[in-house]
Amino acid sequence: MNVQALGSGQRLAYRWLVRPFLSKVEREFFEGIPGIPGQLYRAERRALYEAILARAPAYAFEIGTFNGGGSTYFSARAFARLGRGRLITLEIDPLLQARAVELYDSRLPALRQHVEFLLGGDPALFQPYLQTAGAAEFVFLDGAEHAEQSLAQFRFFEPWFRTGSILVMHDWETEKMRLVRQALTQSPNWRARQILGEPDSIGFALYEHL
Ligand SMILES: C[S@@+](CC[C@H](N)C(=O)[O-])C[C@H]1O[C@@H](n2cnc3c(N)ncnc32)[C@H](O)[C@@H]1O
Repeated sequence: MNVQALGSGQRLAYRWLVRPFLSKVEREFFEGIPGIPGQLYRAERRALYEAILARAPAYAFEIGTFNGGGSTYFSARAFARLGRGRLITLEIDPLLQARAVELYDSRLPALRQHVEFLLGGDPALFQPYLQTAGAAEFVFLDGAEHAEQSLAQFRFFEPWFRTGSILVMHDWETEKMRLVRQALTQSPNWRARQILGEPDSIGFALYEHL
């Protein structure tokens, strides 16, 4: 759950009955950026953030920026905490992409240097960054609810995965990841490191390339 998923009554209850008892860190993961829609539940945001801190990649590649208030924000914060590295995030919707760029330009200048926003629906747009890095060290898939599309995105990155590469997927249990789920669970090259489910998550999986 996160604050954006609450109805107005629940928000009031959260404000007065829950918030005072949460640590500052837990509030931040639950609340995200005030007034900005963002997906991922609190536990998922934290897992993504901690995975980037642990792997400390030069680049993380994300499909599905949305408004920039969910996974993008917590990934950028992880890179800011590391003091180096960048999230390269791809969004197919031009309005959402422009809104996210404007948000980081105007309200989040300290994070802006840790995020590159790409507009489009083709992961081939990541190619220049992959060539610079020589590998896909960290990939987060959270695009359309479309099994074939997610599988094609996974296959795009496949030649760039190396031992220790991290692949994180949201909506792990739904149609979005049905074919990627099959591919990963049948592959000897990948090991599940973290799987989150209800009530903490609507489906979050973190795999490591062996
Ligand atoms: C579930 S939302 C992402 C949520 C976001 N990661 C967050 O935490 O707030 C999916 C997003 O993927 C975008 N999208 C769909 N197909 C895409 C594609 N092929 N390439 C890039 N973005 C895509 C949608 O426009 C939408 O904004």
